[in-house]
Formats: sequence, C-alpha cells, structure tokens
Amino acid sequence: MSSGSKEFVGPFRLFHLIRAGETYEIWSVQPVHDNTPYAMKWLPPGEKYTRQAVAALKHEYKVGKSLDHPAIIKTHEYGVGKDGAYLTMELFKTPSLKQQIVAGVEQLHHRLEEILCNAALGLEHMHNQGWSHRDVKPDNYLVDPENHVRLIDFTIARRIPQGLSKLWGGKAPVQGTYSYIAPEQIRGKEVDARADIYSFGCMVYELMAGKLPFTASSSSELLNKHLKARPPELSMLQKNIQPEFAKLVHRMLAKDPHDRPSSLLEFCRELKAGRCFHIKPKVPLG
Ligand SMILES: Nc1ncnc2c1ncn2[C@@H]1O[C@H](COP(=O)(O)OP(=O)(O)O)[C@@H](O)[C@H]1O
Ligand SMILES: [Mg+2]
Repeated sequence: MSSGSKEFVGPFRLFHLIRAGETYEIWSVQPVHDNTPYAMKWLPPGEKYTRQAVAALKHEYKVGKSLDHPAIIKTHEYGVGKDGAYLTMELFKTPSLKQQIVAGVEQLHHRLEEILCNAALGLEHMHNQGWSHRDVKPDNYLVDPENHVRLIDFTIARRIPQGLSKLWGGKAPVQGTYSYIAPEQIRGKEVDARADIYSFGCMVYELMAGKLPFTASSSSELLNKHLKARPPELSMLQKNIQPEFAKLVHRMLAKDPHDRPSSLLEFCRELKAGRCFHIKPKVPLG
C-alpha cells in the first residue's frame, strides 16, 4: 500500500482502504469540514503515477459527471496535487455483483429480475448519453440487499461514434475484460452500445447458469471463443429459464452486432413482464 502514514489527500481525510487495485486505490474518505462520507479513487504519487493513469482518472471524472441516473454512481470531485490525483464519488458500501456471484449465484436468483432490470437501466442511460462503457462486468456493478444498483468504473468508456466518424473507426489496442469482451472490441473496432450489450449478455448468462459462456486455459483461446465459438445452450444449464428469455440472452451474445438487440429496453420489458424464470425462485433459507 502506498498511503504510508498519510492521513489526508487534498481536503479529504482517509478512513478505510476498500480495495487496492492494480493502479488505483479505493478509500472511504471524509471532507475536513463535512460529515458526509465519500468514496475516493486515488492514484498516489509513486511508480504507478503515470501521465496515462492520471489522464484515465480525469477521463473517468468527465464521463461520470455527464451521467445522472439512480443506477449509476454519482461522481463528485476531481483533484490533482502533491498527494497524487483523485476523484470522489458517492460511497456505496456493498460488495460487487462479482463478489456476490462467488458467494453463491443461486442466492441471487429470487431477486435477479429486479437487479438485472436496474443494472440494464443504468447502462441504457449511459448509452443514451452517448457513451459506451466497454468494461461491463459484475465487478463493475455494486448491488445492495434492497437491489439498488450502481454501475461504476468509467476509465475506458468512449464516445459512441456518430454519423461519418462511424466509417472511419481505426484500429485500437484491445481494452476490456477478456471473459466479457465483444468480438468487435477484440478486433479493435470503434464500438457502440451493442458491444456493452454483448458484455451484459455474458453477465446475464453467468448469473443464470452459474458459469461464464466461455472459459479457456489461455487468453488467446478465450478471445478466439468470443470470436468464433457458440456458447453452450443456456437452457441446458439452467432448466428453470423460459425459452424466449434464453433466446434473448443468446441474441445478446451474437457475434455480429447487427444480430443483437440494439438497446436494453427489450431486455427490461421481458424482465418486468416476469418472463425470465419458469418457477419463481425461492428466497434462500438463512
Ligand atoms: N463508489 C464506491 N463506493 C464503494 N466502493 C467502491 C466504489 N467505487 C469502487 N468501489 C470498490 O472498489 C472496487 C474497484 O473499483 P473500480 O472503480 O472498478 O476500480 P478498478 O479500476 O480497480 O477496477 C469495486 O469493485 C468496489 O469494491
Ligand atoms: Mg473495475
């Protein structure tokens, strides 16, 4: 950990380290003259403090500030100085959806429809504001026991290309998380909402089946499966799924973005109409 004996970052008192990631640290903090706790994504001075990492944090701030939705984390401030660079946001103290999957995916099934609908609406807002998130995965959704959801982590979000720029899309380095990445994102193309819809589909599949659509022993094999392989039939892994819903999830996982739903609204409609499970999953005991 690089905070050393540091007590303050800018005008914020550091309280508790929530997570030390590869580049940034997430802390709960409190401003000196205020009792409101916030979460801080902090890039401390030191070897990880690169121009690129600062730019990514500033970019995350810019994206976050342009979003305003109950299912998206509220972004507050950005600062840079002798204590490094930081952004503050609403503190949403709850395990990520990934942590909850690891704890036991069946435990989530009785509340899955509401969680997924909230998660989809947050992402849909981001798309309507002209952004693709490009790193949609359960690690980047925080979910509380009342099914309130927050989408986080906008470091690699990009503007969805409009009009002519759509045609000029260049080749970019592969960015994203390999278990959830869309074929066109692997190919380094400019992506739109449909790449997020693919990643979201991988997440829904994982939540329904208890396993990812694709796994492999190397990253190149995994990427190749996203490009070419058919995911195992979801209804074989989850017998309690309605066939139409399983079909919809498979459509979200289509290789060609044109074959995917163009927005998440259809997905939300299905969930709201209760067309996900055959038999309503029971609340787990204990
Ligand atoms: N606003 C927040 N409130 C509470 N915890 C948060 C918040 N933002 C992030 N976290 C915690 O930090 C982890 C990493 O955050 P994230 O922004 O995804 O950073 P990374 O770039 O390391 O992936 C999250 O999974 C979550 O546990
Ligand atoms: Mg993250």
